[in-house]
Amino acid sequence: MSISIRALHPHVGGEVTGVDLRRPLSRDEVAAIEAGMDRHAVLVFPGQPLDDAQQLAFSLNFGEIEKALAGDLQKLGEKRLSTDFADVSNLQEIVKRDDRHRLFALGNRLWHSDSSFRAVPAKYSLLSARIIPSRGGNTEFADMRAAWDELDEGMKAQAEDLVCEHSLMYSRGKLGFTDMTPEEKEMFRPVRQRLVRVHPVTGRKSLYLSSHIGGIVGWPVAEANDFIRELTEHATQRRFVYSHPWRAHDLVVWDNRQTMHRVRPFADTVEKRDVRRTTVAGDGPTVAQAA
Ligand SMILES: [Fe+2]
Repeated sequence: MSISIRALHPHVGGEVTGVDLRRPLSRDEVAAIEAGMDRHAVLVFPGQPLDDAQQLAFSLNFGEIEKALAGDLQKLGEKRLSTDFADVSNLQEIVKRDDRHRLFALGNRLWHSDSSFRAVPAKYSLLSARIIPSRGGNTEFADMRAAWDELDEGMKAQAEDLVCEHSLMYSRGKLGFTDMTPEEKEMFRPVRQRLVRVHPVTGRKSLYLSSHIGGIVGWPVAEANDFIRELTEHATQRRFVYSHPWRAHDLVVWDNRQTMHRVRPFADTVEKRDVRRTTVAGDGPTVAQAA
């Protein structure tokens, strides 16, 4: 059995077969997967019934795990999963429509890059599908490299050296979710990220967009938000997007440095969606700033 990868889309997404992620991988297998990530930015591994320990072990092939602190509304003692996992599921039997955790999670339906609100943002996210709803709930991935390549020269020149402010308060605020406690406001205070990133291996440039953006350093807020909206509309055109229809036991890995993603709606108050996310930490901030 040897690894093979076929493209799922002209820009973004590949499907990987010929590997069993439940067992330790060889160095060549890890290298083949990393090369596939550098090329396709999103890899789908169908038919991988992982448990939490196996998912964690596989994730550690690609770097350190980003701990799920300061990423949601739950206090440490209330976390349903270990801090090695981001809690992105709705695991309760019945979810009330006005449940605060649910409303906060609706922010995942906006285009974003995971953890762009952290000073050191994420490298990869790995999402394992354990239980999926009967319909809806696709995850869409937009290729920020192709979006950069096809941006007109005037916009490129404007965007090139800009620094944006990212916070969970900005993305949630876009949905009208603004009732944060003083502790949450402190935890979610904005961080700065470059708007244009360069991939450390391929050297390709990409737009570092996210719904977590709420400003551009040195710009009036309204003009900044309008410019970001303009770039986001460009970057999320259908031709840059791969839409993933989930099946149970899919594992999907995406590179947050080169893509944005969003979850499509599903009946989240009545259907369970148990998906487990591990996150590989990035190797540094995109701009110098206080931690
Ligand atoms: Fe996400």
